[in-house]
Amino acid sequence: MKKKTVVTSALPYANGPIHIGHLVEYIQTDIFVRALKLSGEDVIYCCANDTHGTPIEVNAKKEGIPPEKLIQRYFIEHRRDFEDFNIHFDNFYTTNSSENKELSDYIFLKLKENGDIYTKEVELTYCPNCKRFLPDRFVKGKCPSCGAENQYGDNCEVCNSTYKPTDLIDPHCVICGTKPITKKSLHYFFKLSNYSEKLKKWLIENKNLQEEIKNYVLNWIKEGLNDWDISRDAPYFGFKIVGEEDKYYYVWLDAPIGYIASTRNLGTKMGFNYEDYWKFENGRIIHFIGKDIIYFHFLFWPAMLMGSGFNLPEDIVVHGFLKINNEKMSKSRGTFITARDYLEKLNPEYLRYYYARSLSRKLSDIDLDIEDFKEKINHELIANFGNFVNRSFSFLYKNFNGKTSERFNFKELEEKILKKANDVLNYYKMVNFKSAIKEIMEISDMGNKFFQDMAPWKLIKEDREKAHEVLTFSVNIVKILSILLKPVIPTVSNKIERILNLPHLKFSDLKFDYLSKEIKKPEILFEKLEEIDLIKKDPFTSVDLRVGKVIEVFPHPKADKLLILKVDFGSEKRQIVAGIKKYYSEEELKGKKIVVVFNLKPAKLRGEKSNGMLLAASSENDVGVLTVDGNLGDMVRPEGIEFDGTEQIDIEHFLKVNLVGKNGIAYYGEKVLMCGDKKVEIDKGISGKIK
Ligand code: 2FM
Ligand code: ZN
Repeated sequence: MKKKTVVTSALPYANGPIHIGHLVEYIQTDIFVRALKLSGEDVIYCCANDTHGTPIEVNAKKEGIPPEKLIQRYFIEHRRDFEDFNIHFDNFYTTNSSENKELSDYIFLKLKENGDIYTKEVELTYCPNCKRFLPDRFVKGKCPSCGAENQYGDNCEVCNSTYKPTDLIDPHCVICGTKPITKKSLHYFFKLSNYSEKLKKWLIENKNLQEEIKNYVLNWIKEGLNDWDISRDAPYFGFKIVGEEDKYYYVWLDAPIGYIASTRNLGTKMGFNYEDYWKFENGRIIHFIGKDIIYFHFLFWPAMLMGSGFNLPEDIVVHGFLKINNEKMSKSRGTFITARDYLEKLNPEYLRYYYARSLSRKLSDIDLDIEDFKEKINHELIANFGNFVNRSFSFLYKNFNGKTSERFNFKELEEKILKKANDVLNYYKMVNFKSAIKEIMEISDMGNKFFQDMAPWKLIKEDREKAHEVLTFSVNIVKILSILLKPVIPTVSNKIERILNLPHLKFSDLKFDYLSKEIKKPEILFEKLEEIDLIKKDPFTSVDLRVGKVIEVFPHPKADKLLILKVDFGSEKRQIVAGIKKYYSEEELKGKKIVVVFNLKPAKLRGEKSNGMLLAASSENDVGVLTVDGNLGDMVRPEGIEFDGTEQIDIEHFLKVNLVGKNGIAYYGEKVLMCGDKKVEIDKGISGKIK
C-alpha cells in the first residue's frame, strides 16, 4: 500500500518576522516536499504558527492589544512571506485552534491515564509588581560566576555558565525592573523517564536518523532523563489544562501537537482522515527542525506520541544555523535580514538555489557569504544553466521557427545524462541537496560542452539537418535540467515549461522525447546580480556617546529656557547648550557626570554654539539627565553594539535611535546603556523617552 507522508517544518513563533535564518528550514523542507510530489508520492506539507507562551502575551500587552490580535497579524504576515518565497504548505494553520485544544487535552489525558503525569509544588521566580511568574528570559542580573552585567536568568553569554534565575546577583524583572521574589506554585510534570527504554529502542532501530544526533541523544538517556514541567500559571496565553482554572499547558506541550492539528484541519477541508497519516500503518511522519530544538523532538515529542498511541516520526531532519559572512546573524551588525527585506531587493529563487547548494544532512552551520552568493548565482545559475537554456532556445527559435526535429542520435551522452538525473533524484530523497545541485550543474556543463563542440552556428551552414538535431537534443537537455531544478526554482522551471509548451512536468518525464514539437518565443529567465545591499546597520553603530563632567553652568543670554554648560571630557572641554533650565538649577548640574552625543554636528542655539547634546529622560512633568560614574571621555554603549567611527551625525540620524528610561535606568530597546561595567542611570529615577 502506498505510504501517506506528512512532512512538517518547526512552527514559527507568531511573535516576530520571518527572517532568512528561518528560511533555511522552510526552503529545505519545501524542496524536499516538491521533490516527493514530483515523484508521484502521496505527501502533504503541514505547518502552523506557534502562538502561545509568555513572550507573545507580554508583547501583546505592551502593544495594548489582545494576543489573538497579535498572532492574527503575524499569521497574515508569515503566510505572505512564505508564499512569496514559493514555500508551498498544503496547510498553514495556527496552534491556537480548536483542533489543537482537543488534541492537547486528548494527549494530556492519555498520558495522565498511563501514570506519566504528576503534580508537585515548585519554587519559582515571581515579579510582585507584574504579578506574574518570570520565565528565565524575563529575569536579568549579574552573572553569579563571572559578574558580567545584564545576563539572562538561565545562562551567561559572557562566561557560558548555566544557573537558575534565583542565583543571579541583583536580579530584575525584564518587564518592569522590579526585584523578583520566589514564590511557590503547584505544577504538572511529565515523567519522561517512563519512556527511556522505548525511546532508546526507537532511536537505535530507526535507520534514518542522523548518527551524530542519535549518539548524543542516547547519551542523554544514559545520564538519566529529567521530568518535564508542562504547566504554567496565569497570566499566560495558551490552553487551560483540562479541569484547571488558572493553569495552562506550557507552550512546548501544545506546539508539536500543532503538527497533528494542522493535518486534521486540512483533512476536514479536503475530506480525509488525519489518522491516515498519524495513526494508521501506512502513515509516515517526517519532521524538519533546527539543531536548537533536538531535545524536544527526539525525546519529549516521541514520548508523547508513544504514550498516546500515535505513529512515531520515520525521520527527523536536523539542520544547522545560518551564518551571514561567517558570523552569527545580529541586529547590531545589520545582518538580521527579514524575509521581506530580502524580497524587496532580490529574487527569492536565488536564495532557494544558494541554500539548496549548501544543504546536506549535516548539522554544521550554513554560511550565506554575500560575495560568494553573488558569485555562485552569477556563475552557476546564470552563466552556466541560464546561458545554456538561452542559447538552446534562441538558436532553435531563430533558425527553425522553434520546431524540433523528428530524431537525433547522441546515445552515449544521453545515457550519461539520464544516469546523472537518476542520481539527482536519489540525492533529493536523501535530503542531500548539495550533491543534487552538483550533479545538476554537471549536466548543465555537459550541455554547454556539447553545444560548444557541435558549434551549431557553423554546422548549420554545412549540414542543416545535423544542426537541427543538435539543437533538438540541447532543448531536451534543457527540459531535463528544468525538471531536475523544479523543486528548487519552481518559477523558473514553470517559465521553461511554458516555452516548451509542456505544463506540469514531473520526474517521470525525465526522458529525451521532445521531438516534432514547437517552442514558444524564449523569455529572459534571470537578472544578473550586481551590488548587493542587504546588510543594514543598527543606527546606534554610528552614534558616539561619551561621559563628560559639567564644570561650569551659566544662563543663556537670549533664551530663558536654555542653560550653557562647560563640559570636561578629559582630553577636551566643550560648550553645550541644553533646554533644562526649568528642571535644574545651575548648582544642581555643576559637578554631575552626564552623557553627551559626542559626534553630533555642532549647532548654534539662539546664537550660542552647542558642540554635542546632553541626554535626559522626560516624564510627564519632570526631566532627569543621564548620569554615570565613568571616566571622563569614556564611551557609553548598549551591549554588543560597537561604534563604527562615524565622524559626525545629524540630529535626524540621532532621532532614529530610540532611547528610554525605565525605573531610573537608560535602555536602548532591551539593552541597558553601559559605560564599562557601570549602568547609565537617570537622575531622579525618571522613566520616559530620552532625548
Ligand atoms: O523554536 C521555535 O521556534 C518553536 N516555535 C518551534 C516549535 S516546533 C513544534 F514543536 F511546534
Ligand atoms: Zn515586573
